[in-house]
Amino acid sequence: MKFNENFKDIAENYLFAEVADRAAKYTAAHPDKKVLKLGIGDVTLPLAPAVISALHSAVDEMAVKESFKGYGPYEGYGFLREGIKDYYKHMGVELAADEIFVSDGAKSDLGNILDIFAKNNTVLVPDPVYPVYVDTNVMAGRKVIFANATKENGFLPMPDYKVEADVIYICSPNNPTGAAYSVEQLAEWVKYAREKGAVILYDAAYESFISEEGLARSIYQAEGAKECAIEFCSFSKTAGFTGTRCGYTVIPHALESNGFSANKLWFRRQATKFNGVPYIIQRGAAAVFTAEGQAQIKENLAVYKRNAAVIAECMDGLGIWYTGGKNSPYIWLKCPDDMGSWQFFDLLLNEAQVVGTPGAGFGKNGEGFFRLTAFGSKDTTAEAVERIKRVLKNR
Ligand code: MLT
Repeated sequence: MKFNENFKDIAENYLFAEVADRAAKYTAAHPDKKVLKLGIGDVTLPLAPAVISALHSAVDEMAVKESFKGYGPYEGYGFLREGIKDYYKHMGVELAADEIFVSDGAKSDLGNILDIFAKNNTVLVPDPVYPVYVDTNVMAGRKVIFANATKENGFLPMPDYKVEADVIYICSPNNPTGAAYSVEQLAEWVKYAREKGAVILYDAAYESFISEEGLARSIYQAEGAKECAIEFCSFSKTAGFTGTRCGYTVIPHALESNGFSANKLWFRRQATKFNGVPYIIQRGAAAVFTAEGQAQIKENLAVYKRNAAVIAECMDGLGIWYTGGKNSPYIWLKCPDDMGSWQFFDLLLNEAQVVGTPGAGFGKNGEGFFRLTAFGSKDTTAEAVERIKRVLKNR
């Protein structure tokens, strides 16, 4: 037996596991200090009351012979797929329910989708970006090339026709930079992908944070995207499901290549390796799309947006360059005094007991940058900001 040699080519620890490890070691060595975590983008507000009530009713259904459920459909229950379909309709996107696949979250699907693509595809990934895209492809032995996202291009790289790519990742609003593409900009990526015969894997996990006009909520708002794009989304950041686990992937019927339908391949893959999301959880997720559910999740999103504004005000006061926070729950800042990302991480942890995420963990262009999340509680955010101000003002 031999293990997969490709693991030699990825960092020993997953970025957020490494951050958690370092924070845990610090806490163990300094039990008297209260560490504030603004690292991983994990939500802190409870599930919406409409979701809780749907979860309770679903639990009760499971207690009764007549309404008990065993295995569900591999692709998700119709009631949830219809809810997602209607949600897209509000963005002006018409989907068929059988183009929507319910899963336990965008992260799993973003990794698992690679099962349907040939090994010798070249993968184009923005740098910096959510590390899952690179790690999963390197694990599978695929060639990964990068599109530079920099301060100069507003962290929004555009297609370069000299570059040949088969699989293209786009995350908008972007994790970690918070930069978001307009519909017109996505239309250029769609044009490029169609010309190259490539597929776009579009991560829309943060779409509900978009507050500025003209920015895309879905890649399908760009004409022609159904022929070349798969979209991943999640209830995690929108409705606080990080611990509850539910997401969805859209694979249009129009996405075909060399006689294969991506939709059919994915169904085949899921039916083989996945038995679906629990009925109870899908009932909870469906409640997000009720009028009551939508109003309640918007209240929670407003709290996170306010936290982002509080962090942004702190950076303004300190004269630190940053972006993000407007259409995203992340503030992406330039480390002061030309510090490296991990150096700044250590400074904040040791002197302010605040944990953030080093930009270098998202790619080489992230070196010298740092990410703070707005998903903390209001109090944690306020206290973290005060501590950051104290430490950085005194330098
Ligand atoms: C992040 O902090 O980037 C995300 O929470 C990680 C994830 O969604 O897996």
